Order: sequence, then C-alpha cells, then structure tokens
Amino acid sequence: MAHAFIIGGAGQIARKMTPDLVSKGYQVSSLYRHDEQHQQLADLGATPVKGDLMKLGVSDLQTQIAHCDIVVFAAGAGGAGADLTRAIDGEGLEKAVSAAKAAGVQRFYLISVFPEAGRTADLGDGFEVYMQVKKMADVHLVASGLDFAILRPGTLADDTPTGKVSAGLAVPYGTIARGDVAAFLAELINQPNVINTIIELSPGDTPITQAVSQLAPKAV
Ligand SMILES: NC(=O)c1ccc[n+]([C@@H]2O[C@H](COP(=O)([O-])OP(=O)(O)OC[C@H]3O[C@@H](n4cnc5c(N)ncnc54)[C@H](OP(=O)(O)O)[C@@H]3O)[C@@H](O)[C@H]2O)c1
Repeated sequence: MAHAFIIGGAGQIARKMTPDLVSKGYQVSSLYRHDEQHQQLADLGATPVKGDLMKLGVSDLQTQIAHCDIVVFAAGAGGAGADLTRAIDGEGLEKAVSAAKAAGVQRFYLISVFPEAGRTADLGDGFEVYMQVKKMADVHLVASGLDFAILRPGTLADDTPTGKVSAGLAVPYGTIARGDVAAFLAELINQPNVINTIIELSPGDTPITQAVSQLAPKAV
C-alpha cells in the first residue's frame, strides 16, 4: 500500500482529498498543528502527525516522512501576510523538498496557484508577494531532481463539486470548487505516469479520471 504524507493535512483541500486517497487504497499521514484536528484527521482515515512547519527542521521532517512514498505539499499561509507567506509557502516548501530528498521519497506533489489569479483585481502588495513566492516554490521543486507534479488551480471556492474539470498545460482561468481540486489531486496521485509536469486546473466538462488520463505521455 503506497503511503502519502500530506503537509498541511488539516487544510481544506487536504481534508477533502484524504478519504478519496484512503478509498483508493493509500495510507495517509497528515501533518497538523492544532489538537482539535487530531480526531478530525483520524476520522477521515489519516494518521495524524503533529508539527508546525515553522518549527520543524529538515531532519525532523525527514524522520516524519521516512517510509512514505509520496509527499503532498498542501500547506499555505492563507493570506496571513508577506512574512508568513515567505515562511510557509516559500521556505516551508523548500524544507519539505530537502526532507523528501534526504528521506529518499521521490514523488512530490505541490498545490501552487494559477498564473492569472487576481490579474483583474487590485489585491495589494501582499498578493503580489504571494504570487512571487508561489512561483519560486514551483521553480525550486522543478529544479530539485524529485519527480513532481505541480497543480495550479484557479481561485478556490466552496461550491458543490461537479466532478468535471478543464486541466492541461494551459487552460483558461476560472474559479473552481475545492472538492474538484481535491478529487483531481487524488486521481493525479493515483495515475503516477502523469508526472514531471505543471498542470493548470479550471472548471470544465471533462470527468476528472479522464482529465488526468489525458495528461499521460503519448506513446511514440
Ligand atoms: N485561495 C485560493 O483561491 C487559492 C487558489 C489557488 C491555490 N491556492 C493554494 O491552495 C493551497 C491549499 O488551499 P486550502 O484552501 O486547502 O488552504 P487552507 O485550508 O488554508 O490549508 C492550508 C493548511 O496549511 C497549514 N499550515 C499553515 N501554516 C502551517 C504551519 N506553520 N505548519 C503546518 N501547517 C501549516 C494550515 O494549518 P492550520 O489548519 O493549522 O491553519 C492549513 O491546514 C494553498 O497553498 C493555497 O496557496 C489557493
């Protein structure tokens, strides 16, 4: 049974994804910070692992993810300011990549952000820092030597999931239900031949399993 370690395991996308991964046959361990999240994660079928990304060193994380096959980085500062964005979405990702490499965990998934997000709104300097940090996190993972998939969803909403998306190297930007992002990421993990790629994700008409399959490399 493959074992996925989710950093940001108590986040909204991560929590929606966990039962899906479990039902697909994965063992899931989820990093969380707050005591009340322990039972919530256990109820979803995950093994809760307590830790704060700000305080954990690379060797602590390495110990936590040893024996896992997959790392999923679903953490984010969530608009809590430029410094925390740099610390979590930026340095936190770099720490997780170093820990994965040290632990010999080769497959790494990152939730990033759609390049067109916020283009039409004046969202201030903090948002600009967020976009820059997210981009440099993508750059860091791509250069790491790990097998990676970077998912760039459009703006997240808590709408009812449709089970259908538009996914590809370049698709039009849109607002997408967290449930659809979670289902797509679980399916992406479950189709490991779709790897070493960056995927833009928007709402669309293609059922999620098919949308992931269509991203598989073509036979030559
Ligand atoms: N909002 C958007 O429109 C949008 C669009 C595209 C992509 N994204 C990206 O999507 C990702 C996930 O989104 P989401 O809605 O699932 O976010 P979320 O619910 O805010 O989840 C983020 C998780 O990161 C965790 N985290 C923050 N600081 C941490 C720390 N120091 N140590 C350990 N964990 C920490 C949080 O823990 P706590 O539960 O303890 O707070 C939370 O569980 C984020 O990276 C975000 O940047 C967002």
